[in-house]
Amino acid sequence: MPTATPAALDREFDHECVNVFHDTRTGATGVIAVHSTALGPAMGGLRLHRYGGVDDAVADALRLARAMTLKNAAAGLDLGGGKAVLLDDGAWTAGRTERLEAVGRAIDALGGRYVTAEDVGTSPADMDVIATQTQWVAGRSAEGGGRGDPSLSTARTVFGAIEAAVDVHLSTSLAGVHVGVLGVGHVGSHLVALLRAAGARVSLADVDEARARTVAEQTGSTAAPLAGFLAQDLEVFAPCAMGEVIGAAEVPRLRCGIVCGAANNPLADDGLAADLAARDILYVPDFIANCGGIVYVAGDFARQDEDEVDRRIAGCVDRSRELLVTARDTGRPPLDVARDMAAGRLAAAARTPVVAA
Ligand code: NAI
Repeated sequence: MPTATPAALDREFDHECVNVFHDTRTGATGVIAVHSTALGPAMGGLRLHRYGGVDDAVADALRLARAMTLKNAAAGLDLGGGKAVLLDDGAWTAGRTERLEAVGRAIDALGGRYVTAEDVGTSPADMDVIATQTQWVAGRSAEGGGRGDPSLSTARTVFGAIEAAVDVHLSTSLAGVHVGVLGVGHVGSHLVALLRAAGARVSLADVDEARARTVAEQTGSTAAPLAGFLAQDLEVFAPCAMGEVIGAAEVPRLRCGIVCGAANNPLADDGLAADLAARDILYVPDFIANCGGIVYVAGDFARQDEDEVDRRIAGCVDRSRELLVTARDTGRPPLDVARDMAAGRLAAAARTPVVAA
């Protein structure tokens, strides 16, 4: 284990706790970051990713956990924000079950401060394994007693946010509007289908070109080359692959009116939202657009019935529209309005006296 403090802890640490664990028997190494439990247990996904080292993993976990606090608060959930990441050392295939069991024990040791769920690189089946070691896990498979993949719910709130943004910012409906979807995996492929059903014209791209072609054929969309995808004429750019796809170099290249997608942290730096606004590009915050998945998973964890979960997802879509209208009417960036909305809930929770049971 490293003896030096990861640089991210000096730079961006305002979290309740961060736990770096290494299981010597299986080799599983990971980071669990709990940003806030002000509204309830910190819930957020478990990501398996090839990081440059523990320092990178800590930095990613801290940033993602903080975003979960905002997302859960803005989505109206009584949950705090946390995230766990696992370092993919190339040896996860053979001993995956034993490693996931070790992860489950590390989560259990936090006694319910953090509740995990699937994320990029993990699956509902992985959550079933973790559930053998801890109760603090959501998003299990249907066979494992859960409701499985949340991606359609995520796509529903992304779609609702795009529809609202097109209405509020471009004063039109989705019919005939050109949307570029980058990444057509679990969420992106559902999103393309919803957009096409609403009459949008969709161009899509994916590093997995065969997948891009299949989704395009199935939905009557156009598979486009990755190179230059960002710079094409679009009304809406929907990043649905990995984060940080828009850096300072990309902002001047974008030729769209709206950025709204599923990817967490699509901006390399939040300050770029202002640069986009200066170019009259409306940036819909990731945690507003993509909250359907966590609402679905939280509903599964709380054993809400499906109608209740549907109602909550529809509520998120209504809130994203209200937020965009407030941003337009006040001339403020949606990111600032969304942050204030979440901060208001957190501040109210901090003022609520804790009453002993
Ligand atoms: P996924 O792994 O199923 O799909 C991602 C797709 O992007 C894959 O088809 C992959 O080939 C493609 N891709 C990867 N790197 C790329 C690149 N550089 N350029 C173009 N394509 C690339 O992931 P999923 O579940 O669809 O999630 C997509 C994004 O949405 C992720 O950023 C995830 O964190 C975020 N998200 C997902 C939620 C969910 O319910 N699955 C919930 C909230 C956020």
